[in-house]
Amino acid sequence: MKVSEIRQSFLEFYANANHTIVASSTLVPAGDPTLLFTNAGMVQFKDCFLGTDPRSYVRATTCQKCLRISGKHNDLENVGRTPRHHTFFEMLGNFSFGDYFKKDAIIFAWKFLTETLKLDKERLWITIYESDDEAGKLWSESTDVLPGRILKYGKEDNFWAMGETGPCGPCSEIHYYLGTDLKTQSEDDFRKADGRYIEIWNLVFMQYNRSANGELVALPKPAVDTGMGLERIAAVKQGVRSNYDTDEFRRLISCTEALCGKHYDGKNYERAHNSHYDIDCAFRVIADHARAIAFLIADGVRPGADGRGYVLRRLVRRACRHGRILGFKESFLFKVTTEVVATYGGVYPELQAAQTQIDRLVKAEEEKFSITLDQGLVLLDQAIQDTKQAGAKVVTGKTAFQLHDTYGFPLDLTEDILRNHGLTVDGVEFSREMEVQRERSRAARASETQLVIQRSVKELPTKFVGYEFLEYESEISGLFDVNGEVKNAKPGSEVVIVTRETPFYAESGGQVGDTGFLSTDGGAALDVIDTQKTAAGTIVHICRVVEGEVQAGEKTHLTVDGERRRSIAIHHSSTHLLHLALRDVLGVHATQAGSRVSEQALRFDFRHDQPLREAELLEIENLVNHWMRENYAVTTEVLSLEQAKKSGAMALFGEKYGEQVRVVQIGPRSRELCGGTHAKASGFLGSFYLLNENSISAGVRRIEAVAAEEAYKHSKRKQNLIRNLELALKSPEKELEDRIRKLSARLRDLERDAERQGQRSRSELGDKLADRAQNSPHGGKYIISKVEAIGGKELRELSDKLRTKIQSGCVVLGSVVDGQVLLLTAVTDDLTDRLHAGKLTEELVKIVGGRGGGRADLAQAGGGSPEKLDSALKRAEEILGR
Ligand code: SER
Repeated sequence: MKVSEIRQSFLEFYANANHTIVASSTLVPAGDPTLLFTNAGMVQFKDCFLGTDPRSYVRATTCQKCLRISGKHNDLENVGRTPRHHTFFEMLGNFSFGDYFKKDAIIFAWKFLTETLKLDKERLWITIYESDDEAGKLWSESTDVLPGRILKYGKEDNFWAMGETGPCGPCSEIHYYLGTDLKTQSEDDFRKADGRYIEIWNLVFMQYNRSANGELVALPKPAVDTGMGLERIAAVKQGVRSNYDTDEFRRLISCTEALCGKHYDGKNYERAHNSHYDIDCAFRVIADHARAIAFLIADGVRPGADGRGYVLRRLVRRACRHGRILGFKESFLFKVTTEVVATYGGVYPELQAAQTQIDRLVKAEEEKFSITLDQGLVLLDQAIQDTKQAGAKVVTGKTAFQLHDTYGFPLDLTEDILRNHGLTVDGVEFSREMEVQRERSRAARASETQLVIQRSVKELPTKFVGYEFLEYESEISGLFDVNGEVKNAKPGSEVVIVTRETPFYAESGGQVGDTGFLSTDGGAALDVIDTQKTAAGTIVHICRVVEGEVQAGEKTHLTVDGERRRSIAIHHSSTHLLHLALRDVLGVHATQAGSRVSEQALRFDFRHDQPLREAELLEIENLVNHWMRENYAVTTEVLSLEQAKKSGAMALFGEKYGEQVRVVQIGPRSRELCGGTHAKASGFLGSFYLLNENSISAGVRRIEAVAAEEAYKHSKRKQNLIRNLELALKSPEKELEDRIRKLSARLRDLERDAERQGQRSRSELGDKLADRAQNSPHGGKYIISKVEAIGGKELRELSDKLRTKIQSGCVVLGSVVDGQVLLLTAVTDDLTDRLHAGKLTEELVKIVGGRGGGRADLAQAGGGSPEKLDSALKRAEEILGR
């Protein structure tokens, strides 16, 4: 059976059992921010399991496009190295939403495998979740699975979850024996997971939803989600050793063979002493990545510097690097992706529709990377030599960062190459470098945008309509890039746009600028990254063109990100209430010195010259919360500056105001001059938490606070923390403090006792060992002993004591701590010209898998093979006793 026939027969089998055939969803999950990519067939049905997305059917079957390259399910590292790992793959599945459950799921799967595909029962094995006796019974009573073939496994293997949150439940897997001799199958071998038994199908009995705080909540109705990798089942059915030997993969590999003129041997999965391994591996990586790349582009992903776009870019770059192994000197990958379209286009028409984009984007990405790839490889090669020469196993994070930053090597690409040399990267250092770089570019970006605004924007009239509207139709009256005014701009470019009217609020008065979208009549789509104001007051939208070409003068539809704006407005209104509370509690001197209001929090600087006391903070927080609950209306009016001041509105010291000013009033007492956007009533602000208070300069203090949803999230985090503590310490909330106090007192006592006890027993041990000292042919006495798990400091104490006791001679001690061997050798001063502690240690520590030596009188070193400690001590006996 060809792959396409297997795909078809699966869907037909379930359609005959009253399942609706549902098309695969896109690789980019719709409306699910918890997942970067669709990683299983059930993803598009997530809400059906949760009971919030009722459909016209209760049974479904799909062949789903999946990508496992990030998050909980990530197979990237193994791709190419094994016969069965992929980034992109197709998953066959059947689903029941509160209709049938375990029994039918088991019977269907068994029938499909043994009757439709006619797999040999003698080769099939079943695993179930350890406490799922029901599934065990169903397998043995409702199918003719062979006796002794149902095995129990724990959570690691037989409890499936989509991600950190979402639907999950116990599962039952079907495995297939690939070996030649059916008689030699055994449970022991199966449990050793030696590669001859492979999992082919996973039946998940969905029973729970894991919420954000880790809790398992029962689903409204138990459901079924099964998943069988099409590539695997095809390999089994076609009797080939590897998924890469199935017909569709072979087509892609042959295409690459023809392009590079090298031969894919297909037998090489072990690297050791195998000159063809890298070549085979490269063929597989290219075939795998080409599929992922083509499908991603067809589903709308574009190469980029972060998120999904960066995953795509990484795939292209990894494929290019493997192309070098096959001898490609220039772009080739777009030819392989064309073959992907030809192979899969019939089943997935979106590939055909995107053929031109796939071609163009892949080629452009390849060409861009080609320029730096070879130089980067030279640098990396040097780093590998240096690291090996220094006897180290870890390449510095700085090198990895330089490769990333200057040569465009994604970290996983560097790691992939290093793995072949048994090396790794210092990941901590790498992240640190990345963070520093991010900071730098944030700062650079900010000033660059400012520059663009200052330099190139012509002053144009704009009208702000964002107090009433979040969406508006207007016309592009100015289009600018770094070089000045332009007529049009292409996808990918950053531009500054001015429109006649705009609902976007430009950053001012501490309130951050709005973000959102623009679309034009000509079909262009733009992200608005920020909104700013020029010195003369022109509102400018800082945009990135996402799609289409934007033209000056075009009609445009402007949409503010409403959720974000709402949260900003809430924090702004909260700031006014906070201002009033500060003045009420601290005195009228506590006036505003600055503020920053965003969707996440508010920051308020005010004049006051000492830290706030607990009681003051509490009172301020209480007052603001109280006014929120009063649900005061928020009203605005436009007055002359004079009238406004006369009416008691607070103006900011040192701020320039125009003729006409806007006054924002909240309830009876809060009245401020303010151009910002606000909630309609104080009830919308929900609740209010002070996060912290500190000094920022002489006489000026800063408060940070959150309101509404952010306040809720804040308190939820604290609540979770308490719950986790309750669980960890096994005591209810009201006893927690007491419990922690008692525990730490007890810990202190125990540590003191242990220390005393340790000293006592080391002293006794010292006496005992000294009594057993033997005469040494090298002069003096010697002691060789394995001692209880004690650390380096204690070992030294013990050896000092022994040296004093024997007066002249040599001491060798070995101990195992946390799986690491510690060896210590000490020689009394009178013998160091005959016996060198450092050299002796050097020889002994080799045996336990370590390296190092030391001084002539004292040396200490460690190794990673505790099971070899006895041999090392035996060797010491040979050296010292003869
Ligand atoms: N969701 C399960 C898996 O991915 C079964 O489809 O293995």
